Amino acid sequence: MRTRRARAADAEPIARLVEFYAASGALLPRSREEILTGIEKFLVLADGERVAGCLALERYSADLAEIRSVAVDPEWRGRGLGARLLRAGMLEARRRGYARVFAVTRSPEFFLRRGFQAIGRHALAEKIERDCAVCPRAKDCSLTGVVTQVAERRVNFPLAATNNETRVTA
Ligand SMILES: CC(C)(COP(=O)(O)OP(=O)(O)OC[C@H]1O[C@@H](n2cnc3c(N)ncnc32)[C@H](O)[C@@H]1OP(=O)(O)O)[C@@H](O)C(=O)NCCC(=O)NCCS
Repeated sequence: MRTRRARAADAEPIARLVEFYAASGALLPRSREEILTGIEKFLVLADGERVAGCLALERYSADLAEIRSVAVDPEWRGRGLGARLLRAGMLEARRRGYARVFAVTRSPEFFLRRGFQAIGRHALAEKIERDCAVCPRAKDCSLTGVVTQVAERRVNFPLAATNNETRVTA
């Protein structure tokens, strides 16, 4: 079982996983078309062609991304794959240069145990503007926001810094 970036052939198994959990309200539904056209946002945990888990990393700005659609096949749950996926998602976020990553979830404990902090959704202005503004359930929403710092932002000030590098916390 290894974590890798998703490819077009993974869209169908990802869609089935998301559909499975969306039926119970654990995940927000996503159409097959949305998954296929945004396939580059997904990481999968796969054994050959078999997809056992998925996670999407969605860009909000140069600094901020959302982790969405974290799912592990029910047959594989409870064996550490969800934690592995989240670690892979954080590594990918770091590689892409994001400073912060958030999630809006019905399972905040899953994230809180892995260093995320709870956050009021009002603090996620970008999310409210993009998704909550058009969501029919926005008024009685039961989702919890969680956020974590991915990495310190590094900004070079070659003239001012003694070692050619100054760290600036975003
Ligand atoms: C959440 C989910 C991805 C976890 O996957 P998993 O492979 O079963 O998780 P792991 O075996 O890696 O467990 C990691 C930790 O999360 C905890 N955990 C697992 N599922 C959890 C859940 N639904 N809620 C809260 N905590 C959970 C485990 O107890 C474990 O804690 P520990 O490390 O302190 O022992 C999986 O249960 C799932 O697909 N759930 C349905 C979709 C969902 O709720 N996604 C998350 C919101 S986007």
